[in-house]
Amino acid sequence: MRDVRHELLTGLTTKPKYISPKYFYDEKGSALFEQITSLPEYYPTRTEKQILSNVVSQLDFDFTNATIVELGSGDASKISLIFNQLTDETLAGLTYFPVDISYSAIQQSITGLSCNFKLKSITGLVLDFNTQLHLIPKKPKRLFLFLGSTIGNFDETERDRFLKNLYNEMQPGDYLLLGLDRVKETAVLEKAYNDSKGVTERFNKNIMQVMNGILDTNFIPDDFAHKAFFNSELNRIEMHLVARKNIQITIDKGINISLKQGESIHTENSYKFTDKDIENMTQNSQLKIKQVFSDDKNWFSIIFFEKN
Ligand code: AVJ
Repeated sequence: MRDVRHELLTGLTTKPKYISPKYFYDEKGSALFEQITSLPEYYPTRTEKQILSNVVSQLDFDFTNATIVELGSGDASKISLIFNQLTDETLAGLTYFPVDISYSAIQQSITGLSCNFKLKSITGLVLDFNTQLHLIPKKPKRLFLFLGSTIGNFDETERDRFLKNLYNEMQPGDYLLLGLDRVKETAVLEKAYNDSKGVTERFNKNIMQVMNGILDTNFIPDDFAHKAFFNSELNRIEMHLVARKNIQITIDKGINISLKQGESIHTENSYKFTDKDIENMTQNSQLKIKQVFSDDKNWFSIIFFEKN
């Protein structure tokens, strides 16, 4: 908690101000994100699920007695798509570890999955995959899943560090399926983060309620405007909260910060990937690409890596 406070205070007192996107996901934020995933404008989840829903027969991986480790498992809707393609016999030999920082997400997903699939075992791991990968049990033949382009929230340095850590934790015979959102037409990208129902706006503004809870701040969401655009130099969607007037914020009834009208708080980067990025990621991490699965428009890709 002291680390959280320190991190948030640093972000809110520096210039330009920022809040890490991991703070979006309180209960309300997680529910809003789930709503986002079914919006017509938000193509990533739908596209990735379409790829996942027939990947098993093409995938160069033998699920017999394997262990699946899903990093950031969320609502478990993606793993269900994979389980649906496996026989009861294969499922009966499978070990599944959903990994998430949210205890309630893990608990809910385990309950749902246990009803629908008879696996050898399902064990939830509540941990931060940025710092605690070493706590994942070592088993033979692990398939790691890191889907949803969650890796797009990392900048290049964080991304390389994460993949290197993962590579070091992986053993020979372990594999990784990595979901990546690709660079595409700006209009398509920008619409996905400026939906007509304003769900993304509510999702973005909810981070201020989260701050009010953690830091006892007095953010009023409607004092801010939602802003999301594609930064084409850095190939990322940026989300910001822009002050609509001069605003004074009190933190913990002690520290005061002020925002000038038009000043913004940067809440998220969502990187979009090119072939070159994928090549760089692969080289820096030492992972080896075995297969690439994409939709017809090449809007989203799932990369199958092995450790060699
Ligand atoms: C969960 C990080 C993949 O970047 O598209 C959706 C989060 N932010 N709409 C994304 C998000 C705004 C999402 N990720």
